[in-house]
Amino acid sequence: MAEEAKNNGTTAVVPAQSHDNDGAAVGTAIIAPDVVQNPGLPPHRQRVTDLDPKREKRAERIVYSLFYISIVGSLGAVLAYMFFPIESGDLGQIRLHTMFVGIGMTLALLAIGIGAVHWGKAIMADHESIDERHPTPSDEPTREAAAEVFELADKESGFSRRTLVRNSLIGALVAFPIPGITLLRGLAPQDQDAVTLLKHTMWEKGTRLSRDLGGASVGAAIKASDVTIGSVFHVVPENLDQATNVLDEKAKAIVLLIRLDPADLTEPEDRKDWSYNGIVAYSKVCTHVGCPVALNEQHTHHLLCPCHQSQFDVSDQAKVVFGPAKRPLPQLPITVDSEGYLVARSDFEEPVGPSFWERLK
Ligand code: FES
Repeated sequence: MAEEAKNNGTTAVVPAQSHDNDGAAVGTAIIAPDVVQNPGLPPHRQRVTDLDPKREKRAERIVYSLFYISIVGSLGAVLAYMFFPIESGDLGQIRLHTMFVGIGMTLALLAIGIGAVHWGKAIMADHESIDERHPTPSDEPTREAAAEVFELADKESGFSRRTLVRNSLIGALVAFPIPGITLLRGLAPQDQDAVTLLKHTMWEKGTRLSRDLGGASVGAAIKASDVTIGSVFHVVPENLDQATNVLDEKAKAIVLLIRLDPADLTEPEDRKDWSYNGIVAYSKVCTHVGCPVALNEQHTHHLLCPCHQSQFDVSDQAKVVFGPAKRPLPQLPITVDSEGYLVARSDFEEPVGPSFWERLK
């Protein structure tokens, strides 16, 4: 048997026989009445654009002018990209490039945003309406009601009627992504084939292996006699500092030189002359996504990439023993010249670094 209880403004339905140690009802639902009364809608205030057709026309002009400004900004960004190209090493030019492209894109986005807000605030109908909640199965009357809402929205926003506003907005939205597309061009070299660039490094027959001193600095060439068992050298081509794009070339050509006990090396027949007295050279660029593989675990002969923990076995053709990398590190074939300096036998026989679409072509 249930009874109704009233307590400090709360109403509860409680089972008469059920109370806990404190005397409170057990298993009851407490229903609090609304303490805040619905204040209703404030009185509707008409805007100047509702009262004065001239002001409405002016607001419309502002909106489509803003959308046109956005188009100008987008095109300006494209022109800035073309007329202020990035010249390698010229910081002033890079500053001009980023400044003008940035101004164009800012203008494009800002003008669309302000135009859309002004359109909504000053021109579109702003009367209050209440949308009652109700089940919305997709039956025919619902679809018809939805179509009516669309038509009403179209009528009130003037989307179909105000052709200048609508068309300029469409133009602005179409033009806005264009700078983004043109910026992609900056990722590829201007006058060379990108695939050829990715496939070749500065290493060629007879290039001496020199110490990497960091940045664009090249240290002394390395003699085979300098490399003791267990030691690791970070190596670049001796002529690296003569390259046009030193850092780009270094990013592809950097190598780790390691000496192992020749008895520990597993070398296929056709690669036996790629090492010299247990000295092997492997690309330092991880085949996963290109981080430098720079951690050497001497007793396991494993190279570790710190980015995602791929591990490569130096004693066995730098094969992947752990982690997300899918290919071994490419090996640089080496030998010594007449003065005992370590030199490359050729370039890498496969592209270094992460895979790319045209890698096997
Ligand atoms: S870049 Fe080396 S493991 Fe991901």
